[in-house]
Amino acid sequence: MVESTDTTVEEKEEVSSEAVAVDTDGFGTSAVSEEVVLEVKNLQTHFTTRWGTVKAVDGVSYHVKRGETLGIVGESGSGKSVTALSLMRLVPSPPGKIVDGEVILGGRNLLELSENDMTEVRGGEISMILQDPMQALNPVFSIENQVGEAIKIHQKLKGQALWDKVVDSLRKVRIPAPETRAKDYPHQLSGGMRQRVVGAIGISSSPVVIIADEPTTSLDVTIQAAYLRLLRQIQQEEGVGIIFITHDFGIVAKMCDRVAVMYAGRIVEVADVRTIFDSPLHEYTKALISSVPKLEEKTGRLPQIEGQPPLLYNLPPGDAFAPRSTLTFTPADALRRPPLVEVEPEHWVQLSKSSVADYDKYAHLMPDADAE
Ligand SMILES: Nc1ncnc2c1ncn2[C@@H]1O[C@H](COP(=O)(O)OP(=O)(O)OP(=O)(O)O)[C@@H](O)[C@H]1O
Ligand SMILES: [Mg+2]
Repeated sequence: MVESTDTTVEEKEEVSSEAVAVDTDGFGTSAVSEEVVLEVKNLQTHFTTRWGTVKAVDGVSYHVKRGETLGIVGESGSGKSVTALSLMRLVPSPPGKIVDGEVILGGRNLLELSENDMTEVRGGEISMILQDPMQALNPVFSIENQVGEAIKIHQKLKGQALWDKVVDSLRKVRIPAPETRAKDYPHQLSGGMRQRVVGAIGISSSPVVIIADEPTTSLDVTIQAAYLRLLRQIQQEEGVGIIFITHDFGIVAKMCDRVAVMYAGRIVEVADVRTIFDSPLHEYTKALISSVPKLEEKTGRLPQIEGQPPLLYNLPPGDAFAPRSTLTFTPADALRRPPLVEVEPEHWVQLSKSSVADYDKYAHLMPDADAE
């Protein structure tokens, strides 16, 4: 196979050291600045289906700082990808529609841009890096061609200047002999090198935010480790904010600075990664964390927690998690839509009796606490 014969000794060594490192440490640290580069406010994206309106994203707000990795976690169908697609304005329409909210990047609301301006933003200020390089690369075009295409669109370079930028982008993601590699086709590169090419395309436009949406199917663990390291390396060098979407709370611990937990199209808890692991408040967050496989048994990926995720076209009117909650509460408690409340500095939780065991401790923070 091309793949194995073409792997350089240098790269093999690198991959094997990564394979060992995956269980023992994180994927490098990030230098988070206080500058907010992306702000999502009250985003709502609905799908019209024959069963009714699916509220895939139901009032999501979050922000990303320069150099920060924000993890988005939640079960399958919780709205993680539709949120990301909404930021890029790539939700298929029909049946989808962004019905409300703002996405602020560089002082502009992306939801109000013309389609032409939005094309500049996509793959420009916001780019997506896929984990599976074969999905992202076209087998019939050379590496030079594919990296160059992205640069041509966003930076209008050509000739020698374009070539220099292609080589420079490949060098930045540590592809050895970039001038030679640029002439190759994807099948001539190893899996790890192909992934670096996808990374080079991702950063060629100097994005402010990179979205990394992990595929549901699990890839080889060494490939995954290489991918995570590449993202971290790009972040350290370019200072971008990363939105890292995953099911896997184990990877969150290694990759993310802050974490937003999604359930049924809403964010139920947000905090820095330490707080999320050490003192989670929402019952759903607790359940996800307790389902993380221990280090020695790293086979499990999809957390299994009691009960089924709700059908998004038939959501309970108040607290969507209530039907799965094991806490004691009245039907009236569950009927209130829980507000996202800042219970400690930078620690937000959807506060309800049905989903937060420590509700009484924070009840005074409820927006209508005085009225009761
Ligand atoms: N084209 C569509 N038409 C109708 N419903 C859709 C469409 N795309 C997504 N949805 C619904 O939106 C909801 C959120 O989907 P989304 O893909 O964001 O989930 P996810 O959290 O990314 O899940 P996964 O972890 O499996 O990738 C789901 O209920 C899904 O069925
Ligand atoms: Mg998804």
